[in-house]
Amino acid sequence: MALPSTTKALALREGGYAPAPTAAVPDRMADHIELADMPLPALKPGQVLIEVIMAPVNPSDLFYVQGSYGQPRTQGNAAGFEGVGRVLASGGGKMADALIGARVAFLGTVTGTWAAHAVSDAALCIPLRDDLRDEDGAALIVNPLTAVALLERVREAGSEAFILNAAGSQLGRLILGLARDQGQKALAVIRRGHDAEELLSAGATEVLVSSDSDFATRAGTAIRSHKPRVLLDAVGDQITADLFFAMPSGARWVSYGKMSDESPRLGQMGQFIFMDKHIEGFWLSRWLPAASPERRSALIADVQARFASGAWATRVASRLSLPEAIDGMLPALEQGTGKVMLVP
Ligand SMILES: NC(=O)c1ccc[n+]([C@@H]2O[C@H](COP(=O)([O-])OP(=O)(O)OC[C@H]3O[C@@H](n4cnc5c(N)ncnc54)[C@H](OP(=O)(O)O)[C@@H]3O)[C@@H](O)[C@H]2O)c1
Repeated sequence: MALPSTTKALALREGGYAPAPTAAVPDRMADHIELADMPLPALKPGQVLIEVIMAPVNPSDLFYVQGSYGQPRTQGNAAGFEGVGRVLASGGGKMADALIGARVAFLGTVTGTWAAHAVSDAALCIPLRDDLRDEDGAALIVNPLTAVALLERVREAGSEAFILNAAGSQLGRLILGLARDQGQKALAVIRRGHDAEELLSAGATEVLVSSDSDFATRAGTAIRSHKPRVLLDAVGDQITADLFFAMPSGARWVSYGKMSDESPRLGQMGQFIFMDKHIEGFWLSRWLPAASPERRSALIADVQARFASGAWATRVASRLSLPEAIDGMLPALEQGTGKVMLVP
């Protein structure tokens, strides 16, 4: 079979970093990506060529295309951090050769996943169980492993209970289900109430709606009753800061996302001195390389088993082709009912 030398891709219009922090969501995707015929690099040993089946649009992708994520953009390269696809060819090496023909979840380590084909490192490709849906395979790495890692932080802090904002997100729902199964108590914060019942079924111990007029009182009561000492934060707004300052001594604010464009004011600095409180970050890109290969394999097997059993599921709001995505992606994301999947 002749291998393609170019592929259709949503390619980055600019390289490097943005000069200043950007919003979580761009005004126009067309300012940042364009549909292009992207040359595919020659495969090196340890690399594979993948025919992409499906790739999600994650919040990290939206920061990345704007140049405000933790790694610089490469102009002309495809965007997209993760996806599912079938391995067409190997650049040589035992691990890469063994993947030929396999359906894999993968990270776009050489070229991005928002494309018809991608080149990736075989070491970061995960062969999938046959009973796993493509939707779950496409979103198998970033959010599931982050859920595992964040709940590990909660355990390490010696806290049974924790606060989780943006709890209705795909990652939030994974965290809620896993926390319940591990005996951890989640106080789930969402900005609108329509998801409350669903999140209780998903595993939340309590759901707090930040737009409710009695939110501060209800949050105060829940904090006194459950004594959460970890705040898992993907929002980073003033509500988050106020919750943190209402938490007990020793509380840790773990910032792992920035969905709000607001800058919170830290009004009670004395709590860092007198109550031993801490603010810290979490980034999967640092956590994953630090885990041993054996640990990573065991975690991936657990993650696949959770999706296959139905304990976890990837909610899909819509599927868009690459040409549809440039104008259709932001309106599809606004629906807020699950992942937008790109299907080349
Ligand atoms: N640090 C890491 O390594 C790492 C890894 C994976 C994910 N993450 C982060 O985890 C978060 C969730 O990811 P995901 O893929 O699960 O996202 P997602 O499914 O796209 O959901 C995004 C969520 O953000 C909420 N949101 C958006 N703007 C908000 C605002 N201004 N105030 C409050 N909530 C807001 C949405 O709430 P509504 O439902 O009300 O619209 C929605 O629940 C993201 O911030 C992502 O960057 C970080």
